[in-house]
Amino acid sequence: MDTKTGELLSEDVAGVNRILPHKHKYAWDLFLSSCANNWMPTEISMQEDINQWKNNEITDDEKLLVKRCLGFFAGSESLVGNNLLLSAFRFITDAECRQYILRQAFEESLHNLTIVYICDSLDLDIEEVFAAYETVPSIKAKDDFLMEITTDISRQDFKATTKEGKQEILRNLLTYYIVCEGTFFFSGFAMLLALGRQNKLQGVSDQIKYTLRDESSHIAFGTYLINTLIEQNPSIWTKTIQAEFVEHIKKAVDLEIAYAKDVLPTGILGLNADMFIDYMHYIGNRRLEAIGLDYRFPSDKNPFPWLGEVVDVQAMGNFFERRVREYQQGGALEEDF
Ligand SMILES: [Fe+2]
Ligand SMILES: [Fe+2]
Repeated sequence: MDTKTGELLSEDVAGVNRILPHKHKYAWDLFLSSCANNWMPTEISMQEDINQWKNNEITDDEKLLVKRCLGFFAGSESLVGNNLLLSAFRFITDAECRQYILRQAFEESLHNLTIVYICDSLDLDIEEVFAAYETVPSIKAKDDFLMEITTDISRQDFKATTKEGKQEILRNLLTYYIVCEGTFFFSGFAMLLALGRQNKLQGVSDQIKYTLRDESSHIAFGTYLINTLIEQNPSIWTKTIQAEFVEHIKKAVDLEIAYAKDVLPTGILGLNADMFIDYMHYIGNRRLEAIGLDYRFPSDKNPFPWLGEVVDVQAMGNFFERRVREYQQGGALEEDF
């Protein structure tokens, strides 16, 4: 393994991972900040959420929204986690980037735990939630699209160091980091956090805040990986691949808007499906900008400025301080769950 140049890819996929001297300090620092913000879904009390759910303080439309969002996350979190270890970890051989990927994989496992913990706490129909990626067309379309635009780079005969191989890895990173985590997760985040803003299902909402914070870090890392891979191998970033990716983002935004219409058949919680057109255009533009592509969606305003505050570093700092205080006072852990 090349320990000097910081090349992301090498033939030596099973050698020693040498971290020092730093070559990708950005990935290392993200790894450290993720570790410093460790969290466990089960430390968050669900007692009040359970009361609200059982006492009919949550409407049927709101319950549908929760189940649909969990249904999408249940399928896609597992796709992301599998891809990370079967594909990305296998071929990205740089030691600091691998260190971050291992941390990310752990966080994806926490996100799976979040889904299980919420389902258990609220006594949801597991079949309804977990089968959504097969039974709900707007969810199935998103998962199908992810698989349709990637090839299986975990296959035995895949060669990572040829130009074509590097292009397939680039496609894989663009699909999972930018389309899936960077685009497909965001309407679900907005919907579930909108519940919390109205003091509904605060336990669910708090878990989604932590998840959103993790995902923002994953997207930052993925963007760094993509830009670095292109910088190290400029010939792989052809006009054809750039145009292809713009088409993928356009399709992803359309699928996300269709999903929002499906989950929000009537306007609830101050949200309606049309707001998600603006939001997904806004998100799509941020993602395209981050990887240096010029295409822009027509609408560029964020209809949910409050969502930005959730991932604002200062606000998250306060959020974590609050949690530490609660933890120290024993409040958050004295509930039944
Ligand atoms: Fe995740
Ligand atoms: Fe993630």
